[in-house]
Amino acid sequence: MSNASNCILARVCKLAGTAQCTRLCSSYIAMHGYSGDGGRVGAANVPADYRKVALTNSPARGDQPEAYQIADAYAATFARQFDPDAERIKSLYLFSREPGTGKTTTAIALLNEWLTIHYIGSLQRDKQPLQRPAYFFDVNEWQELYNQFNRPRVPNDIAELASREYYRRMEHARLTPFVVMDDIGVRECSEGFRGDLHAIINHRVTNGLVTVYTSNVTIEDLQSVFDRRLADRIRDMCGVVQFKGESKRGLRR
Ligand SMILES: Nc1ncnc2c1ncn2[C@@H]1O[C@H](COP(=O)(O)OP(=O)(O)OP(=O)(O)O)[C@@H](O)[C@H]1O
Ligand SMILES: [Mg+2]
Repeated sequence: MSNASNCILARVCKLAGTAQCTRLCSSYIAMHGYSGDGGRVGAANVPADYRKVALTNSPARGDQPEAYQIADAYAATFARQFDPDAERIKSLYLFSREPGTGKTTTAIALLNEWLTIHYIGSLQRDKQPLQRPAYFFDVNEWQELYNQFNRPRVPNDIAELASREYYRRMEHARLTPFVVMDDIGVRECSEGFRGDLHAIINHRVTNGLVTVYTSNVTIEDLQSVFDRRLADRIRDMCGVVQFKGESKRGLRR
């Protein structure tokens, strides 16, 4: 049986669905690993529920025609990553006040598109594809890690585990060429956490790295959640996409 339904490259792969489309295909392994949970998709840290979503098959597509028109056009700019003289690839801010409208789903569809274009484009240019071209960064989870090692009387071993994981994720979020910053509009945060978040965003913006944010807070209101400096950095070279309607969570079968 063909392995096409397990592989994010299937949409563009000439071998998809043929007798050569198996779990032993070297490109499948490059993207998903021998186990199916590794490879570049595994390194991108995408939650399992969202791993196979593409712009074309996204459950949110039908309800969000305007957002997907922008997302399609945006994905078409990803090929510029190979051209140092090309116009810079913008960042994108996916917003709706309502939860469950498909922001995270769409951000991951864009991430999968980036992975695909990076992998195929690198091979076409005789370049080694990066091991981690894209990274999904859950800002809420990251803040929870921060809180775990900044609580009074937390045992050393627990604090150490949490802080190691916190800094590991921070490095990926700072350095990976394409990052989804999921749920950026986090609630209250301490000065230390805000400083770290600022360091990530500042580094990314300064170095022209591409970020897709998702948020329940308007880009204008970010300055009341964080501060003016951080909000201004996020707005640098960033398009805003509004998601409409009510929560669709639980609809998918
Ligand atoms: N238009 C839609 N039709 C059917 N299912 C949808 C639609 N949009 C999203 N979903 C499903 O609803 C769930 C929530 O979507 P998603 O996580 O992308 O929402 P979100 O906008 O990121 O929400 P939040 O603001 O809470 O983070 C997912 O399982 C997704 O597949
Ligand atoms: Mg979300």
